[in-house]
Amino acid sequence: MSEAGGGKLAEILAKKRAAREKAREEDNVSISRNASSNVDQNESEDDERRSLSHTSGSYEHSERSRTGGFVNMSLSQVEDLTRVAQGGLGILYQGIWRGTVVAVKKPVDPRVANDPALKEDFRREVEILSEIRHPNVVLLMGACLQGTGLCIVLEWCQGGSLYDVLHRRRVDMNNHQRVKIARGVACGLAFLHTASPAIIHRDLKTQNILLDETLSAPKLCDFGLAIRLSDSYVTNAQAGTPSYMAPELYRGEACSLASDVYAFGIVLSEIFSQELPFAALELSEIREKEGDGGWEAGGL
Ligand SMILES: Nc1ncnc2c1ncn2[C@@H]1O[C@H](COP(=O)(O)OP(=O)(O)O)[C@@H](O)[C@H]1O
Ligand SMILES: [Mg+2]
Repeated sequence: MSEAGGGKLAEILAKKRAAREKAREEDNVSISRNASSNVDQNESEDDERRSLSHTSGSYEHSERSRTGGFVNMSLSQVEDLTRVAQGGLGILYQGIWRGTVVAVKKPVDPRVANDPALKEDFRREVEILSEIRHPNVVLLMGACLQGTGLCIVLEWCQGGSLYDVLHRRRVDMNNHQRVKIARGVACGLAFLHTASPAIIHRDLKTQNILLDETLSAPKLCDFGLAIRLSDSYVTNAQAGTPSYMAPELYRGEACSLASDVYAFGIVLSEIFSQELPFAALELSEIREKEGDGGWEAGGL
């Protein structure tokens, strides 16, 4: 961190310390324990009051194994928000939360706080991420699912996305580094697929793989389309990003773990060739080749 950044951080920390002391005096930090699936029920005016409460999984044994829980926080607790990237669903900011540099994902359009479908994507992302603890999956630190302060707070991944590293910054990596990244992605994906019930990411691509500052420890992110492979979630709605979508998805068939494995194959080819997948083709051509007849030998 730069000296200026360090000074600023010290100032923020001092402010935070004072606020903490005050809060301790007033003893107003409440700890509530609700199932995360119920978080939405109490949308309300007292968002702010509850901003320091902890929402976690039910303590009944059977539920506990499935519900990780997350820290229910308020966007107003994050300081120094700086916009750094934009994806399909959210704008990504860097900020400082309780003295720690974090990534904050907010909806692209603040009005979507009132859009049930988009809210559901955010809720699903939080719910699924809160159940996963793995070195190759981005760490969910907190979230706010109420009101207009809708946000997801994640660990900050200094290296940015694998897409940026490969295609924008065009970092010249050796094969050892590339293998390490590929292996990390495989480990993260295997961890999702061996969950019970299994989790299908459905949008695996280099934009959704983050890296640390050494560019060697990848972390899967963006679980907005992720689903569990259980009866209630089986879907054949087309979802994902065209270049990474398996042929069966173009044919309207249900997604499966294999659809993620297909996307992983595309990611592998991207890691080792450092070329954009299907760069020479138009979207319609990708659809045509994938959906109708599959690829001819050597097509990839
Ligand atoms: N934790 C993070 N640390 C650093 N950059 C991140 C982090 N999370 C996301 N990003 C950046 O923000 C972009 C968009 O985030 P993502 O979660 O994929 O949102 P969307 O659902 O809108 O695609 C990513 O491609 C990446 O460049
Ligand atoms: Mg994304």
